[in-house]
Amino acid sequence: MAPVGTVLITGGAGYIGSFTSLALLEHGYEVIVVDSLYNASEISLDRIELLCGKRPTFHKADITDEEALDKVFAAHPKIDSVIHFAALKAVGESSEIPLEYYRVNVGGTITLLRCMTKYNTPNIVFSSSATVYGDASQHEGMIPIPEHCPIGPTNPYGRTKSTIELVITDHINAQRNNLKKAGKPYEHWNGALLRYFNPAGSHPSGIMGEDPLGVPFNLLPLLGQVATGQREKLLVFGKDYPSRDGTAIRDYIHVVDLAKGHLAALNHLREKNPGVRAWNLGSGRGCTVFEMINAFETVVGHPLKYDVVGRRDGDVLDLTANPSRANEELNWKTELTLEDACEDLWRWVSNNPQGYRQSPPQALLDS
Ligand code: NAD
Ligand code: WQD
Repeated sequence: MAPVGTVLITGGAGYIGSFTSLALLEHGYEVIVVDSLYNASEISLDRIELLCGKRPTFHKADITDEEALDKVFAAHPKIDSVIHFAALKAVGESSEIPLEYYRVNVGGTITLLRCMTKYNTPNIVFSSSATVYGDASQHEGMIPIPEHCPIGPTNPYGRTKSTIELVITDHINAQRNNLKKAGKPYEHWNGALLRYFNPAGSHPSGIMGEDPLGVPFNLLPLLGQVATGQREKLLVFGKDYPSRDGTAIRDYIHVVDLAKGHLAALNHLREKNPGVRAWNLGSGRGCTVFEMINAFETVVGHPLKYDVVGRRDGDVLDLTANPSRANEELNWKTELTLEDACEDLWRWVSNNPQGYRQSPPQALLDS
């Protein structure tokens, strides 16, 4: 059977990219992955194949290398859409080496858009982030956060994301206007700016999950390390927030739901030609740090050690999504719970303490 479409996924070997590649293959798309393997391993693609019987075509390339990217587009003339994950994403590091973040994230996106234009690839789904909203609790009536909340990121990483949103918007609008003026079809040029909240969890099979190459800085991977004994304790950043228990509130979204959100956005662009539009991908439910620790302790079956320390620079009180726009327009909503994310994360980290650097346990492959 002919594929539904051919999609280039930048950063497709990474955490969210690998789950999205899997979701697209499961729904009949042909998937081409471009990844420099800066923060990922090609083994994630083996796991995709184990799970669905199909493997993305892989090109090891850097998105800032226009010649290399050009060759990928030339080799796959049927690519009709791009899902763009490839980026540097460590918030703290982005304040230390901001130029590198702008070069890779913003510069890499411009290179990608130039190739898409040359090869007439009109749809882009972009990994934006709730971090573009900055401290939404400063604005009255903006929690849970709707897409019209003022944009105001508090760190260079977040500013690369809000800048890329503008670059994509300007470019897609220019393409549409220029083609329209020339009397050519233009409606098929579209962009989805997906602002995701806090991705969490792993594949329910226990053989695919988050496996960052360096030291993690996100709450759930750190909790996973405490639970497996790889880390002595968690540091809780601040107990003096005006929340129900003093710790900060986040909207954790299962990575399987998030991947389905990308599929829904891609289908919407291809079928409805909406131009450029932003959608929040979140559950709409806020969870504090203590609530998350409790939920994970329940799954793990023993207490997890933590110390409360001062607030982390740049952290905000509450990032909870209002996901109504995505619920209504993309016909997408989260189906999995925080408990599902904790259970799946635990299955992944407890069975694969070395992540992708070890073979998955036979018992999981047999089940
Ligand atoms: P990840 O690091 O697992 O995935 C990013 C992938 O891009 C990696 O596979 C990495 O090797 C690749 N990459 C990095 N630089 C590259 C380059 N120059 N050329 C080619 N490939 C390159 O991270 P993730 O958590 O899967 O995040 C994916 C996207 O989602 C990123 O754009 C990130 O900013 C965004 N995002 C992530 C979160 C989160 O908490 N995980 C939240 C919101 C948005
Ligand atoms: C969650 C909560 C921390 C670690 C970051 C980026 C954001 C997006 C998602 C990419 C916060 C607390 C954490 C720890 C803690 N990424 N915490 N001790 O900061 O909401 O978002 O990842 O786009 O841009 O900023 O996620 O998982 O780091 O933190 O107490 O050791 O857990 O203070 O309240 P965050 P996180």
